[in-house]
Amino acid sequence: MKVFVTGAGGMVGRAVVEHCMARGDEVFAYDHQRLDVTDAAAIRDAFARDKPETTINCAAWTDVDGCETDHKRAYLINDEAVGLLAANCRQSGASFVTISTDYVFDGAKDGFYTQRDDPNPTSVYGQAKLAGERRAQSACARTTIVRTGWIFGREGRNFLSKVFDYARSGQTLKAIEDGFGTPTYAPDLARRLRELAQLDLPGIYHVVNAGAGTSYADFTRRALVAAQIQGVKLESVSMNSLQRPAPRPRNSRLRCLLSEAINLSPLQNWESALNDFARRFTDTTASVAKPLT
Ligand SMILES: NC(=O)c1ccc[n+]([C@@H]2O[C@H](COP(=O)([O-])OP(=O)(O)OC[C@H]3O[C@@H](n4cnc5c(N)ncnc54)[C@H](OP(=O)(O)O)[C@@H]3O)[C@@H](O)[C@H]2O)c1
Repeated sequence: MKVFVTGAGGMVGRAVVEHCMARGDEVFAYDHQRLDVTDAAAIRDAFARDKPETTINCAAWTDVDGCETDHKRAYLINDEAVGLLAANCRQSGASFVTISTDYVFDGAKDGFYTQRDDPNPTSVYGQAKLAGERRAQSACARTTIVRTGWIFGREGRNFLSKVFDYARSGQTLKAIEDGFGTPTYAPDLARRLRELAQLDLPGIYHVVNAGAGTSYADFTRRALVAAQIQGVKLESVSMNSLQRPAPRPRNSRLRCLLSEAINLSPLQNWESALNDFARRFTDTTASVAKPLT
């Protein structure tokens, strides 16, 4: 496939590029510097040059707290730019896959959020991402929305990389006991994004690793065990006590009715994905720590 990837320098973008290259695709990988997704002329030129069959949009402004204070930027990147990309896909006959978030839900529900649940985002980030979903769907019928959450991977900064950094620096970790989600391993997500691009069956998909989900605190503890990091001090806290600028859903566990209906195989369980991640993480840090001979 000829795959156009935006946000290719981010955590998911890198995993998507790596996976598509491994599958033998012709990949047009654009990081933020090479292509600003808010630049309509640059997007038009890139589409005219590359003539992709599909676009996987991994670009976003993911600073959830930052979005609360800069609404304009949040909507420009997470909403309007998604519409621009979708419109270019329609004009050039390409399919469009764009990533959304579990933060489109308010978190008041117990159990899993499915496509039958109405979104009700409580943060500007979630509101802008939901607006981006809708704008893309109206700009291009061949739009696949992939809602996901709690992504972890080797590249970039994410929840687990911060946990490991804090743990290594000897700081006490705040373990949120009352926030629940479904972790998603970036390489597994990348594989499913490509699969959905190829399938070209438009709709809203919820893509997360299999299993019942977990709390931030449990996720943190299991990650430390998997990475064999010992002696870390954990302080149990509630979500509200952190008083962050953006509200987060208390529960944002996702389940995908659509994937089940079309028999897409579930992604591996999040615990085995976590073990895979920790094994690679410890291998990398061990090799970095090796003395040069
Ligand atoms: N991480 C999670 O837990 C999570 C959960 C749910 C959904 N998501 C969604 O998953 C997708 C991928 O996120 P990620 O975790 O890979 O985040 P990330 O590592 O922050 O990657 C996002 C990338 O987008 C780039 N970007 C920002 N503004 C841009 C612009 N105007 N033009 C082009 N590129 C731009 C960023 O580049 P710079 O850094 O140089 O600005 C960054 O490389 C996003 O849609 C996000 O909303 C993430």
